[in-house]
Amino acid sequence: MARVISFASGKGGTGKTMVVANLSVCLAKRGKRVIALDADVMMSNLGLLFGLEERFTLHDVLAGKAGVEEALHQVLPRLEVLQGGLSLKELGQIRLDRLKGVVGKLSRRADYVLVDCPSGFEEDFLAALTASPQLVLVINPDPLSVAEAMKVKKLAGRFRVGLLGMVVNRVVGRETDLPLEEIESLLEVPVLGTVPEDEEVGKALASGKPLVLEAPRSPASRALERIAEALLRRRPQPAAPL
Ligand SMILES: Nc1ncnc2c1ncn2[C@@H]1O[C@H](COP(=O)(O)OP(=O)(O)OP(=O)(O)O)[C@@H](O)[C@H]1O
Ligand SMILES: [Mg+2]
Repeated sequence: MARVISFASGKGGTGKTMVVANLSVCLAKRGKRVIALDADVMMSNLGLLFGLEERFTLHDVLAGKAGVEEALHQVLPRLEVLQGGLSLKELGQIRLDRLKGVVGKLSRRADYVLVDCPSGFEEDFLAALTASPQLVLVINPDPLSVAEAMKVKKLAGRFRVGLLGMVVNRVVGRETDLPLEEIESLLEVPVLGTVPEDEEVGKALASGKPLVLEAPRSPASRALERIAEALLRRRPQPAAPL
C-alpha cells in the first residue's frame, strides 16, 4: 500500500500544485512508483503543469463514467497523473464521497500518492483531506498564509490526519517575510524545506513541463529535490491529540 499524502494550505495560491507536481517527479526519479492526484475538482490545473491533454479525468471517475485506469496518464516511467477536468459542465454529476475509494485504488498501484488539495474549507477540501491519512502544509511566509494553515492543522487533528511537516514556498527574503523560526513556533510543525521565489517556476508552467525537469539547476528545483529527500526520510506521524 502506498503512502498517501495530501498537500493543503487553506489560503489559495501558495504553491500546492507546483509542489505536488515537482515532488512527484523527484520521488519517481528516486525509484518510487508515484501517482499525483488532482483533487482540486473546482479548479483543476495539475494536468497543465505536465502539459497533459484532456482525456478521461477524475471528474469522469467521480461521476461513474470512467475507471481509474482509463483516467491515469503515464508521464514518466514510474509516475502517473490523475488530472481533474477543466470543464465545469459535469460538476453536478460528481460524487465526492467516491474520492476515498479512488484514493484506495490508487494506493494499491503506487508507493506514494500525492494529493493536490483545493484551497479553502469547502466540501471538496474536506473530501481531499479526509481521503489521506497524512498531510503536508504548503505555506508562504506571510501572516495570512500562516493563519489559514493553522485552521487546516486544526481540521487535520479533528479528522485524525497526521501532519508530516510543511513546505514554505515563495521565500523572497524580504523584511516582510515572517522568519522561519517564527512560522515553526506559531504552527508547531516541522519545516520539511523552503522553496525560493524563482522565475523559472512560471517559465516551466508555460512550457507544460515540470520545473525539476525543465530547469533542474534552478534554485527552486534544487530546493524541491531536497524536500523530496526530507519526505522520504520522514516517518508517518500520528494525528494530533484532540
Ligand atoms: N517558488 C515559486 N516562485 C515563483 N512562482 C511560484 C512559486 N511557487 C508557485 N508559483 C506561482 O504561483 C502561482 C500559484 O501556484 P500554484 O497554482 O501551485 O498554487 P496553489 O496553491 O496550487 O493554488 P490554488 O490554491 O489556486 O490551487 C502559479 O502561477 C505558480 O507558477
Ligand atoms: Mg492548486
